[in-house]
Amino acid sequence: MFDIWSSLSYLSRVQRTMPQFKKSTVHMKDPQHVEEIICNLIRGGASKLQIITDFDRTLSRFSNNGKQCPTCHNIIDNCKLVTADCKKKLHKLKDTYYPIEINPHLSVQEKYPFIVEWYFKSHTLLVEQRLQKDKLPEVVRESDACLRDGYKQFFDQLQQRNVPVFIFSAGLGDVLEEIIRQAGVYHPNVKVVSNFMDFDENGILRGFKGELIHVYNKHDGALKNTEYFDLLKDNCNIILLGDSLGDLHMADGVANVENILKIGFLNDKVEELLQKYLESYDIVLVQDETLEVPNSILQKII
Ligand code: TMP
Ligand code: MG
Repeated sequence: MFDIWSSLSYLSRVQRTMPQFKKSTVHMKDPQHVEEIICNLIRGGASKLQIITDFDRTLSRFSNNGKQCPTCHNIIDNCKLVTADCKKKLHKLKDTYYPIEINPHLSVQEKYPFIVEWYFKSHTLLVEQRLQKDKLPEVVRESDACLRDGYKQFFDQLQQRNVPVFIFSAGLGDVLEEIIRQAGVYHPNVKVVSNFMDFDENGILRGFKGELIHVYNKHDGALKNTEYFDLLKDNCNIILLGDSLGDLHMADGVANVENILKIGFLNDKVEELLQKYLESYDIVLVQDETLEVPNSILQKII
């Protein structure tokens, strides 16, 4: 009896002290379940926590003042190292395959072969461009790369409390690392798993390292990183951040999950996808370009 009452007052305290949850962007299918998870995360504290997050359109913004922000790939697509003809081809690929990626009427299985095709064609074009490794910092500096508001607080507080952050991205690892390095948040507690470019001895792009990570094979990628997760076996409480339904599998390599809070950013095709997202993510943030909600939860935990 005592436990029930003490936890009830604890729950309402959480709700009262998080005004960020009153924002119209916050949607939850089961708010009570969310409160329960948050309470468990608070009890576990920083030492039991780890973050597993997607990058493009999760840590980075989807749009800024009505203009769509670039993904890691788009930063290269639009840069001065790529010829006009190749830009045209890359934009055509995006116009063909992005609508498939977000099509609410197709299942993951149906989308899968098209997404693989997109990555194959897009990466082949990039290799043909013979991109130079030493130009990447300049390309990122001159791009419209944009992290979500609150990114600094997000990364800095996690570093201060030594909470491991696993960025698991189907974007371009070299570009991603450069973005967070230039933003001053590539702290030692951050590990990036992504598609890394393979350069020849002259620093010219000749391919990609390891197996391709795309939007819908994050399950396989997660299982390849069990070594990393095994080292973190005491970090059994997870906050997962994503924007695609494929991102829900990013924690599949963690054997000892005690509590997991899944936060999903729903950026596009909101009406059609909201129900599906509500069934998959504990908290759905609709067209919310900030990290305010994750930051408010983190502030309570660590
Ligand atoms: P993420 O896993 O970090 O979100 O990165 C994957 C995103 O990159 C996904 O939304 C698809 C996108 N993408 C492009 O924008 N251009 C491309 O050429 C390819 C292959 C993917
Ligand atoms: Mg994404």
